[in-house]
Amino acid sequence: MPQRNLTTTTVGIVGGGPAGLMLSHLLSAAGIDSAVVDNRTRTEIENTVRAGILEADSVRLLVDTGVSDRVLRDGHAHDGIELRFGGVSHRVDFKGLVGESAWLYPQTDVFIDLANARQRDAADVRFGVTDTAVVDITSDRPGILFTDADGALQEIRCDYLVGADGSRSMCRHEIPEAQRRQFFREYPFAWFGILCEAPHSAPELVYNHSARGFALISQRTETMQRMYFQCDPDEDVGAWSEGRIWDELQTRVAGEDGFTLKEGRITDKTVLRFRSFVCEPMRYGNLFLAGDAAHTVPPTGAKGLNLALADVRVLAEVLERAVLGHDRAALDEYSPRAQQRIWRAQHFSYWMTSMLHRLPGASDFDVRRQLGELDLVVSSAAGSTYLAEAYTGWPRPR
Ligand code: DHB
Repeated sequence: MPQRNLTTTTVGIVGGGPAGLMLSHLLSAAGIDSAVVDNRTRTEIENTVRAGILEADSVRLLVDTGVSDRVLRDGHAHDGIELRFGGVSHRVDFKGLVGESAWLYPQTDVFIDLANARQRDAADVRFGVTDTAVVDITSDRPGILFTDADGALQEIRCDYLVGADGSRSMCRHEIPEAQRRQFFREYPFAWFGILCEAPHSAPELVYNHSARGFALISQRTETMQRMYFQCDPDEDVGAWSEGRIWDELQTRVAGEDGFTLKEGRITDKTVLRFRSFVCEPMRYGNLFLAGDAAHTVPPTGAKGLNLALADVRVLAEVLERAVLGHDRAALDEYSPRAQQRIWRAQHFSYWMTSMLHRLPGASDFDVRRQLGELDLVVSSAAGSTYLAEAYTGWPRPR
């Protein structure tokens, strides 16, 4: 057997996306060692287009813990969104309703800031590894085995292991099936996402309900925009020319106010399939799951990254009490505390999705009921406050 190069640390983290890197950063601020491995290269992660909205607390977490203040310079505070239905836009005023904003700052930038911060602190983060396996997860010395980017066999032994390895998590599958419950909901549609070279079409994000299905007009920069429209999960991106995409988007947002989208060259086209998923509990022995490894939400409302950051904030806190305060019982709090927010976000994402999308086989009654709900949300303070509070992020429990 070839010899493995052995290193030891306190917390071994599988997954170097925002959840894994933020956890490593928070632990290091508390004086706790960690090591992170990811089978993607840094460039691969940086080139994946992901969602773009941060809750107010996610922004504060990045700034207050010293990850980056770039979000304050390059990000944009959005004090509301437009809900558009029946061809008319209605503003939901977050700032006026709950005193908070949501921030437009792409997940890719969050990743870049975190990767830079970890590099600056000389953290042990290894991208581009292969053959990753976790071992001895119920023992007090679990391990991560992998081959590093230079082809050397490596073994990291730790006290605690964290699976922050995304929705197709390898770590989750290490938990025996009898020890986890999984909750699913599939949706009979997907999003067709584009990036395009164009100026903003509207000052804020537009969530658009129409007879032809949902459309979301989001933003990236002054000159690049992100838009999505509801499509079939098996939609072939090759069947959509630029002209056909713009016709579809323009038809969906058209209305008596004459609103039209500013068009431009399309540089990226992807179909995003989505589902709701939760795995409970988020712990087995000394293995903890965080972020997409434990749960996924449909994208409407952009809760995915925010939930991942909220998970690791709780996880860092209980690990700190376990490691530094020798309080192992603190670890029992992780799953129930994280799950409270996860199920709120599951409801919010499901609610936004089902209120705004065309449901296959929907009757006229169903469509009128959606419009009734949208009307209530924009015209009642109670309805719009629920949306504003959920979108900008529920306050953290004390
Ligand atoms: C974006 C994605 C979302 O799912 C959303 O609700 C808002 C914005 C985005 O990628 O910009």
